[in-house]
Amino acid sequence: MHPNMEEKQHIGQLFDRIAGTYDGLNHGLSLNIDRLWRRKTVALMQPSQHVLDVAIGTADLTIEMFRRHKAEQVTGIDLSDQMMAIGQKKITNHHGSADRQKLQITNVKFVHANAQSMPFEDASFDAVTCAFGCRNFSNLDEGLREMYRVLKPGGQVTILEFSYPSNRLVRACYDIYFTRVLPLIGRIVSRDKTAYTYLNKSVKSFCWGEAFVQHLHDAGFSNEHFTPLTFGIATIYTAIK
Ligand SMILES: C[S@@+](CC[C@H](N)C(=O)[O-])C[C@H]1O[C@@H](n2cnc3c(N)ncnc32)[C@H](O)[C@@H]1O
Repeated sequence: MHPNMEEKQHIGQLFDRIAGTYDGLNHGLSLNIDRLWRRKTVALMQPSQHVLDVAIGTADLTIEMFRRHKAEQVTGIDLSDQMMAIGQKKITNHHGSADRQKLQITNVKFVHANAQSMPFEDASFDAVTCAFGCRNFSNLDEGLREMYRVLKPGGQVTILEFSYPSNRLVRACYDIYFTRVLPLIGRIVSRDKTAYTYLNKSVKSFCWGEAFVQHLHDAGFSNEHFTPLTFGIATIYTAIK
């Protein structure tokens, strides 16, 4: 049940295929809890001038950063141009929306790049974030080492990722939802056979909690903390360079 390397190698194409339905399915299948998770993630960030949002996707985390005044400028990287195109559109449309007076999102740059070899100088960013991206890296340690490299000393990395609940009852419900309900709805709505079975496989075979913290530590980070959310279905990790 491990997502094979080939799936991860073509991860940009997988997300290109489901980009059009990604936001709707995310919010629908999680009953909007994903919005709360991103809000909580941003709440744990220090206000920063220039943030790197790794695996920015459709830019939900970035938009939340501006909403909470945690970033002046964001550079987002991703392997899926379609996901970033939707993110760009959301930001552009935002300028015409009713709350444009309250929220100015003017300073976001989208870059097609791999998290495991980033096209940035050492110590380029005041903070680094990544929501639901790390699980997809073909090599997690390479990705974390790159985050460490491009972060300024003293800067914080904030990562939101799925995890596997420890409570047996929650685990049982989670297994049914992730192996039966979610792939079925995902397949019908996104019309993609593999994307939502991949989600389940990638969560189960990924590390979480103390094990993830160890990877952060090995990448060079210190002062690592983790906060499980909603019975441990997702977890926020923070650490300092
Ligand atoms: C589940 S989406 C998360 C998007 C967004 N951060 C969010 O919170 O909705 C995962 C994203 O990671 C991107 N991704 C996966 N592996 C990547 C890598 N090695 N480098 C850059 N982006 C990657 C995918 O293309 C996809 O857009």
